[in-house]
Amino acid sequence: MRKENVSYWTKSSTFTQFPQLSQDLQADVLVVGGGIAGILAAYQLAKAGREVTVLEGQRLAQVTTAGTTAKITAQHHLQYQDYIKQRGEKEARLFYESQCDGIEILRNLADQYDIDCDMETLSSIQVTIGESEKKIKKEYKAYQQLGINGTLHEKDMGLPFETTMGLEMFDQAQFHPLKFLAAMVDVCVELGVTFYEETMVKKIDGNTVETENGMEVAFNQLICATHYPIANLKHNLLLHLEIERSYIVAAKDYTPIPYAMFQVADMPERSLRHYITEDGIGLLIGGENHVAGAKDDVKLCYERLAYDAEHLFNAHDIADQWSAQDMMTQDKMPLIGRYSKSDDHIFIITGFNKFGIATSAVGSVVLRDLLMGQPNKYEELLQPGRIDTIGSQAKATAKKAVNAIRGQGKAIKDYRTDREALKEDEAGIFLHDGRFEAVYKDDEGTEHAVSPFCTHMGCVLSFNNGEKTWDCACHGSRFDCDGKVLHGPASVDLKQQ
Ligand SMILES: Cc1cc2nc3c(=O)[nH]c(=O)nc-3n(C[C@H](O)[C@H](O)[C@H](O)COP(=O)(O)OP(=O)(O)OC[C@H]3O[C@@H](n4cnc5c(N)ncnc54)[C@H](O)[C@@H]3O)c2cc1C
Ligand code: FES
Repeated sequence: MRKENVSYWTKSSTFTQFPQLSQDLQADVLVVGGGIAGILAAYQLAKAGREVTVLEGQRLAQVTTAGTTAKITAQHHLQYQDYIKQRGEKEARLFYESQCDGIEILRNLADQYDIDCDMETLSSIQVTIGESEKKIKKEYKAYQQLGINGTLHEKDMGLPFETTMGLEMFDQAQFHPLKFLAAMVDVCVELGVTFYEETMVKKIDGNTVETENGMEVAFNQLICATHYPIANLKHNLLLHLEIERSYIVAAKDYTPIPYAMFQVADMPERSLRHYITEDGIGLLIGGENHVAGAKDDVKLCYERLAYDAEHLFNAHDIADQWSAQDMMTQDKMPLIGRYSKSDDHIFIITGFNKFGIATSAVGSVVLRDLLMGQPNKYEELLQPGRIDTIGSQAKATAKKAVNAIRGQGKAIKDYRTDREALKEDEAGIFLHDGRFEAVYKDDEGTEHAVSPFCTHMGCVLSFNNGEKTWDCACHGSRFDCDGKVLHGPASVDLKQQ
């Protein structure tokens, strides 16, 4: 049976493994979630002298962080003109500074601990084939207004297809994210951090969490670094999070491009960067964004990227391919800080808008300061409570409701009864003996039958034919074809049927 596509980063890194939690515990700082956000927060707090425990539901850094492109950059899209409009010049500049700090933190950590993680300094460049010239020029004005270290090129940018303009941001970086984090986990252990893996947190109750395997951990302060916040954390801000999935293909033989990170600003957006392999330098091509769980033919996303690899970059072989999803916020800034005024011992770090690498690094320092009762200049800028306004709540609620209805309606309309007609490598939702079953028949003819209802809030799942998973369009949970949780907020596996 084909497994989910695995990233190059996962294949080329090795992490120390940790046991599952098998007894109740008392923790000072409890970090739930061991992706880049959780690992770096654990590091900063341990370094500041706190006693830190990390609970990871699967294996460390194997979910979103394993699927990243790993550009370390303050140039996300053409976002500074919008920041100036929405948040004013001062906050737009502060955001840029926060990203520069994030880049510096990662470089310094790699240097300080001598981590072999292919850390490189290079530019990030937004390019256009002509369609986005106006927006790029406006963004350059924003760069000048904010003092961003970059320049505008009104010429072809040397890619194997014609471009008319490029906006370059200098002194950015890229790395191998999992080689870096595997080393940081070992540093954390030396600093006294205790890690548990395969330990999914089911709920938070006051100052205690309960795990899926029935253990309780009491804590003084908790950082929720689970990407989508833990299922029973109730807050209106969760309604503001959209979940977007994207795809990456990796090619080893291709027409060389200038040594920089690129983003094609026109539609369809494409993200490009080099990566270092044992045999030389390869090219990553990313794109094909869509709302998680809401795409009928996911295979097409890979096929379109492979088509571009071949036709634009002359890359005939795809060495690796993978996909991942990230949390998107309405104002395109992350949510980092105190969860709510009433729960002032709980902190979250999420909403990275597909730029969570430098942001996790700066976020880890913000969280360290907040937990230690110290001021931090980015606290106000990033605090989650900022988006909790009545107008945007109503908009977000309506959007969620549409998503939920889309999920439910689809299953009611699409269920089948002809199970014997199911072909190999095909899936469907069937009505059988008065109950619904989500069935995938693998390419060896074995059927995998699970409940089609998401264990988070009951939305109907849809089959992802690119990864062979059941995905939820409501809040982005994902399950393998035997029902195991791959991505939260669901923390409970689907029932096998
Ligand atoms: C395709 C793609 C490309 C990207 N490229 C870039 C890029 O070039 N540059 C950039 O800056 N950013 C990029 N990003 C964004 C960046 O990769 C993410 O924002 C970042 O990796 C998120 O890290 P995280 O630690 O929050 O999440 P994760 O890595 O998902 O970590 C969360 C962890 O929490 C665990 N968990 C969840 N629920 C529970 C629970 N209930 N109990 C215990 N554990 C739990 C999960 O198992 C997981 O390990 C990209 C994102 C995508 C999707
Ligand atoms: S992720 Fe919320 S209902 Fe499925």
